[in-house]
Amino acid sequence: MNVPHKAAGTGDAGRVASVMQEDRLFPPPSAFSQRARIGSLEEYRRLYEAARTAPASFWDERARALPWMRPYDTVLDWQPPDAVWFRGGLTNASAACLDVHLAAGRGEKTALVWVGEPTGERRTLTYRELHAEVCRLAAGLSRLGVKPGDVVSIYMPMTPELVVAMLACARIGAVHSVIFGGFSSEAIADRNNDAQAVAVITADGGWRRGAKLPLKANVDEALTKSPSVRHVIVLKRTGQPVSMTAGRDRWWHDVVDGMPCDTPPAAMDSEAPLFILYTSGSTGKPKGIKHTTAGYVLWAKTTAEWVFDLRDDDLFWCTADCGWITGHSYVTYGPLAAGASILIYEGAPNAPHEGRFWEIIEQEKPTIFYTAPTAIRSFMKWGMQHIEGRDLSSLRLLGTVGEGINPEAWIWYHEVIGGTRCPIVDTWWQTETGGIMMSPLPGCTPTKPGSCTLPLPGVVPEIVDAEGRPVEQGQGGWLVMNAPWPGMLRGIWGNDERFREAYWSRVPGKYLAGDNARQDADGYYWIMGRIDDVLNVAGHRLSTIEIESALVSHPSVAEAAAVGRPHEVKGEAVAVFVTLRGGEPNDALKDALRKHVRHQIGALAVPDDIHFAAALPKTRSGKIMRRLLKDVAAGRETVGDTTTLEDYTVLATLRGNDE
Ligand code: WT7
Repeated sequence: MNVPHKAAGTGDAGRVASVMQEDRLFPPPSAFSQRARIGSLEEYRRLYEAARTAPASFWDERARALPWMRPYDTVLDWQPPDAVWFRGGLTNASAACLDVHLAAGRGEKTALVWVGEPTGERRTLTYRELHAEVCRLAAGLSRLGVKPGDVVSIYMPMTPELVVAMLACARIGAVHSVIFGGFSSEAIADRNNDAQAVAVITADGGWRRGAKLPLKANVDEALTKSPSVRHVIVLKRTGQPVSMTAGRDRWWHDVVDGMPCDTPPAAMDSEAPLFILYTSGSTGKPKGIKHTTAGYVLWAKTTAEWVFDLRDDDLFWCTADCGWITGHSYVTYGPLAAGASILIYEGAPNAPHEGRFWEIIEQEKPTIFYTAPTAIRSFMKWGMQHIEGRDLSSLRLLGTVGEGINPEAWIWYHEVIGGTRCPIVDTWWQTETGGIMMSPLPGCTPTKPGSCTLPLPGVVPEIVDAEGRPVEQGQGGWLVMNAPWPGMLRGIWGNDERFREAYWSRVPGKYLAGDNARQDADGYYWIMGRIDDVLNVAGHRLSTIEIESALVSHPSVAEAAAVGRPHEVKGEAVAVFVTLRGGEPNDALKDALRKHVRHQIGALAVPDDIHFAAALPKTRSGKIMRRLLKDVAAGRETVGDTTTLEDYTVLATLRGNDE
């Protein structure tokens, strides 16, 4: 399979441009446009100009839909890089997702449809029922002594209770930090410690391809190294045996037992932290991205309404796990604040069979389906036999997120899943941006496979060179944002200096996204990959340095270099080069290193290829030349300059040395 977008990330603008020559144009189907919230490009341009020229009144108008316990005094105070949105206002994110709908007489509407991984398990909750569950857990948390501003880690399977846990924290003003269930106990401990979490909400286990993940056991191990945690709340999900530490651990059902169904939402400052979400940067230590209350919820809600064209009868299926930002903004806060019905599925797309998603679509009839290109490439690989005969006619809109989509996968998605009638929204955004930044609007933007098309109203992108000067149209460069938006990150938890350094210093006063991009003659944006040592493996962000740190903490490893190489399903795979201080360079050691990375970070970071090397290619000043290693990992000839290599024989030896 041809995955042309993977030439991205090389920083070689000319090469990326040439493989992304894609001039097919897909106008929105007129049946779709006629009913859409934003049905013409004129309407889009009008909104875009209004948000650009008068942001305060634009966002003031929209913020009125949030439940204010005290109105704000000002819409925006912008002292780069610090933004204060809706200063002086008091509101609550869980009230914005729940209470407003009950007050509007929509309590009986389905909020959530849940499908478990074991076939046949299914639950639905109305807005009234979801509200009650959230209130009960919120009261239970308060009773344990969890206070506004306290951090609560959440390490759970994709169950309705995961959404309940997030909203219950929000209800009492506690700050949630969701940790994806694939992370290891070491990663949980690091996050607990960095945030000084006071409680962890988890489950006995979670289903993954028929197996039970040891979630509680992982938390137990993490807590031997993260002493700030005083309480553990454990949802009984799989029924597997777990050990419960008296005084610290309680079952969820005991915590909520007898609690009231009408806990009032805490009045939170607009800028009170709502959540922390850890993501990889270009150092070994993950960054705790901080999002706050009013601006984030407004951005998640508004972008969900625009991009997914939400209507009252929609059932929205975003396949992301709440452990990632996509699950925060487009499983929980965005669609629920918009009053939509969401569908969530607990398990893997190939459990118990590779047609599980299509079976779920046939049964539950979602109208909107939002997933990742890596998943689409898996579906293509698994084959048509899992799709043929399935009724996918409920779908009216498709979306993608997490990485660029290669045109071949786009066309397949359009034809096979969308039956050529569904527009596709390719949404570009980041953990840091809180919500979608660039995307087609399905009722009006003609799409080009592989392009995230145009910025949403309120988003003012620019492409600049290393001196911060705008590049010529068509040229690749760094993607920056020229204006603040309500959903932007407000900092890195406990590290203002890194916040300024990572996002605001290389191009002073502008938000540096960390991606290369170019704009075509129609003004459409094409993302060309990262500018830093951040990999995108199956839509997940991984830092090469984080993987290297994990490897060098193994006693046999002297030095390690991690790079990405093209992979037909995952987009990028992790290839590592290691030099040894001890041990034999054999398969047993490879297994041991894989286990070690799994233990240090989690399964998602386990290297696909391990190359043992006698030496790594370095510059005379001792910097590892990853560019060359990338070529070796991909089995490519080295095209770039090698004159700065300190020892030419190293490269030749590496090439002769493969696996
Ligand atoms: C990075 C952000 C956004 C939620 C999931 C990932 C890449 C994301 C696209 C897209 C091309 C994309 C970028 C970005 N990315 N969406 N539609 N086209 N690239 O969030 O882990 O914060 O990663 O994912 O490189 O910077 P994340």
